[in-house]
Amino acid sequence: KKDTYILGIETSCDETAASIVKNGTEIISNIVASQITSQKRFGGVVPEVASRHHVEQITIVIDEALTEAGLQPSDLDAVAVTEGPGLVGALLIGINAAKAFAFANGLPIIGVHHIAGHIYANQLMQKMEFPLLALIVSGGHTELILMDEHGSFNLIGETRDDAAGEAYDKVARVLGLPYPGGPGIDKLAAASDGEIEFPRAWLEKDSYDFSFSGLKSSVINYKHNLEQRGETVNPEHVASGFQSSIIDVLTTKSVRAAKEFGVKQVIAAGGVAANNGLRNSLEKEFKKLDIPFKVPPISLCTDNAAMIAAAGTSMFDAGVRGTLAMNGKPGMEL
Ligand code: KG4
Ligand code: ZN
Repeated sequence: KKDTYILGIETSCDETAASIVKNGTEIISNIVASQITSQKRFGGVVPEVASRHHVEQITIVIDEALTEAGLQPSDLDAVAVTEGPGLVGALLIGINAAKAFAFANGLPIIGVHHIAGHIYANQLMQKMEFPLLALIVSGGHTELILMDEHGSFNLIGETRDDAAGEAYDKVARVLGLPYPGGPGIDKLAAASDGEIEFPRAWLEKDSYDFSFSGLKSSVINYKHNLEQRGETVNPEHVASGFQSSIIDVLTTKSVRAAKEFGVKQVIAAGGVAANNGLRNSLEKEFKKLDIPFKVPPISLCTDNAAMIAAAGTSMFDAGVRGTLAMNGKPGMEL
């Protein structure tokens, strides 16, 4: 069988990214233009600002992905692009670039779900084994997904309010840490010599859903109460207690799901999967159960286009083709 080369394009949030992947498993080039400096200035992602950055960067990153790969458009088999979910103005920049590129070069176009991309980032590291449990934890998502085969995604649990990364970013702001908040809290927690006990939202007994807004509120209340009494907050103790609560719930529910569904592999993905405390906790628990657990390297956990090309290749192989009528789907279902 001939090799398949797919160009992936990702612009759903704040990274403008293009990548070429061979046979869905091998990264040939992987370019990410981040907007982190302008977000630091605004303390988060401003949709209109993100779109403007994408417009400036998109043709540059596509050109770089081809140049770094040493390939011509005629060497490619298809263009895979994030169709949703995400910021609609941001999605449209990537989709329109993908359409123009596909039309100009006579290539098929494939619309990829952003979360499918995060899951297929693992295909760039190892062969996926089914049934597979994926824990997706990012700034916009907290989801447990069960896969019985390629292309089949069964959502068994999700957050009912804030995403895990969103909770990290909000608590970081309360502690005066820069955006994005995850790395700063992770560092404080690792250095801490004690911790404040914060609540865990387990929800109904057999639910795989999550809730993090109560945790965020109790951190804010804790700080407020101390300050009312004229006392100061120990940021390390707060970071450590907050992180323990998040890790405890994510790990416990992942372990219960892995057991209930008898999975052969567990993977984690998304920006929060870069968290050292979470990685260690999941590694330890799944080792006890003898279930293989993997997290991609940090560069493939956070938003990138190689993961979109990898997921797109699996769809390409299954015969999926999109059309030039493709539109951004901000609330796209998996
Ligand atoms: O996947 P991602 O790059 O973008 C989205 O699709 O949302 O995730 C970004 C999120 C941010 O909320 C950031 O605070 C969080 O991932 N994050 C972390 C860490 N690094 C990034 N959270 C906890 N610990 C980290 N080390
Ligand atoms: Zn993402």
